[in-house]
Amino acid sequence: MVNSRAEAYAPASIANLGVGFDILGLALYEPGDLVRVEPSEKPGVHITRIDGDGGQLPLVAEKNTAGMAALSVLRQLGSLLGVTMTIDKRLPLASGLGSSAASAVAAAVAVNALFDSPLTFSELLPACLDGEAVASGYHADNVAPSLMGGILLVNGLDASRIRRLPIPDSLHLALITPDVAVPTALARSVLPMQIPLKQMIAQTASVARLMDALYRSDLEAMAAAMESDQVIEPARAHLMPLLKEVRASAKQAGALGLVISGAGPTLCAICSTETGARFVANAMKGVYDDAAIGSVARSTQVASTGARVVAAVN
Ligand code: HSE
Repeated sequence: MVNSRAEAYAPASIANLGVGFDILGLALYEPGDLVRVEPSEKPGVHITRIDGDGGQLPLVAEKNTAGMAALSVLRQLGSLLGVTMTIDKRLPLASGLGSSAASAVAAAVAVNALFDSPLTFSELLPACLDGEAVASGYHADNVAPSLMGGILLVNGLDASRIRRLPIPDSLHLALITPDVAVPTALARSVLPMQIPLKQMIAQTASVARLMDALYRSDLEAMAAAMESDQVIEPARAHLMPLLKEVRASAKQAGALGLVISGAGPTLCAICSTETGARFVANAMKGVYDDAAIGSVARSTQVASTGARVVAAVN
């Protein structure tokens, strides 16, 4: 049966967690993107409207992460029908919060819901990856958490290679997003293609320490391991305004550590209480305020569930 309308929500995500470049990611509760679809006699995906992107995103389905993910689901379902789509972008673009992934995931889940959800979330992952690839190639460290929720070890592109990691109860996150766009492609272009063996050993040890800390719910050890990235942050630091100053101010306000969220420029501080996270978020905002750089502060927690169908009307 084909519903007359379906709507899905997919949340922001934080990739890398500092040391786990391209292999770790987590889902947030909010913010997130909403995608609505209706069936169309005309095959393909027809994006009729995008709100909240300041006119920056393409309406051509093949060039849009949501459009491409929807096309991929239609292909997977062998549908002769097409869909019309509207996108409510609530995530800032090029901000390090998994914006392109959230749109792709919401679109895949919405199209699936239009056909009464014949595909599981695991089966939707390839379509979400096709969507994300339009923006930044095939990597699942944003789409997987946005789709499935939680803190994930992303060991490949197939759902069977994705493992759920424990979420420490007291983990709270303070986020600050400065008004600076850092496109993922740019942030990837500055990375070294090779690293010395010594760095490889240090980086692997940090990822192992992070896993151990998560399983022991040891937030201090978790934050220290996340922060000890010797490869990615040093290469990208110049793209993040006032990184050193924001880190210092977050720690002074009580944060246990701070890392670049995904490809940046959002910075993510690790905190152990809700009030603490709010305080840290304000302190970080103060640094940008003083430098006359606009910014948005958020305090939030890891969401154990990811995308959801908001409505499926028959
Ligand atoms: N792992 C990716 C990166 C996430 O840091 O480039 C951004 O999409």
